[in-house]
Amino acid sequence: MDRYAVIGNPVAHSKSPVIHAAFAAQTGQTLTYAALLAPLDGFAATVAEFRTAGGRGCNVTVPFKLEAFALAARRSPRAQAAGAVNTLMFDAEGIYGDNTDGAGLVRDLTHNLDCPLAGRRVLLLGAGGAARGALLPLLSAGPARLMLANRTVSRAEALAAEFAAAAGNTPLAASGFAELAGAQFDVVINATAASLADQAPPLPPGLYAPGALAYDMMYGRGDTPFLVTARRDGATQLADGLGMLVEQAAESFLLWRGVRPETAPVLAELRRQLGK
Ligand code: ATR
Repeated sequence: MDRYAVIGNPVAHSKSPVIHAAFAAQTGQTLTYAALLAPLDGFAATVAEFRTAGGRGCNVTVPFKLEAFALAARRSPRAQAAGAVNTLMFDAEGIYGDNTDGAGLVRDLTHNLDCPLAGRRVLLLGAGGAARGALLPLLSAGPARLMLANRTVSRAEALAAEFAAAAGNTPLAASGFAELAGAQFDVVINATAASLADQAPPLPPGLYAPGALAYDMMYGRGDTPFLVTARRDGATQLADGLGMLVEQAAESFLLWRGVRPETAPVLAELRRQLGK
């Protein structure tokens, strides 16, 4: 039986085993998918052990995505741009690293939420790993402009400079939160860690254009503080990161198994379990 896993610390809360089991059942693939807790100083050893035991690939979650990047001898362009790896594949040539997070975000927006990005004004909040991972897939979707805003402006500026070549003709700019006042966006994506502290990024009012969508990469039982604020500020459509979670899993499954699973029934079941 082909073996897969998600490796993290902590990892017990991960929904990946449930998601991949559903994908496997739905596509008639015979595989197992487990959650593996790696010691904080033992990621590479855990991967090596899993490979030796017949593992074919794994997902990688907090806090090991940078170590997974370093461990992968070959990487996809999107993993290279992200500087982080959430998907490892083991084959005869060694360890291949990919990053499906950004593609999962874009697919959730464009397919599940019916929110095209082409020609739209997009605001990405944050300049850490989550924002970096989303940048190349977002730029590839052809927005009219992409604005990066972060609490620490210099980090957003550095990220915008780094992705200037990838942006091509797409205007890519950096800003602090307060300086956004007066601008309007069609899609606002929260890639900050503010929700972890039960906070919303301090955005000026009036950012949401008519019909705009607010997207939080985080998810939980209720609305995140960012989504609560977005609703109050006039965002028409709200979405949390549960769809992104399922879509990044589907991208990993596609890489490993060569077949794209249907995400809608799996997402619906997770929403039901969360009482949403
Ligand atoms: P991740 O990998 O989750 O992106 P990270 O690299 O530590 O984590 O980045 C966290 C991001 O969330 C950063 O953009 C951070 O802003 P700073 O660069 O100014 O630190 C942002 N962030 C964290 N807490 C925040 C808060 N309470 N309000 C706004 N932004 C916050």
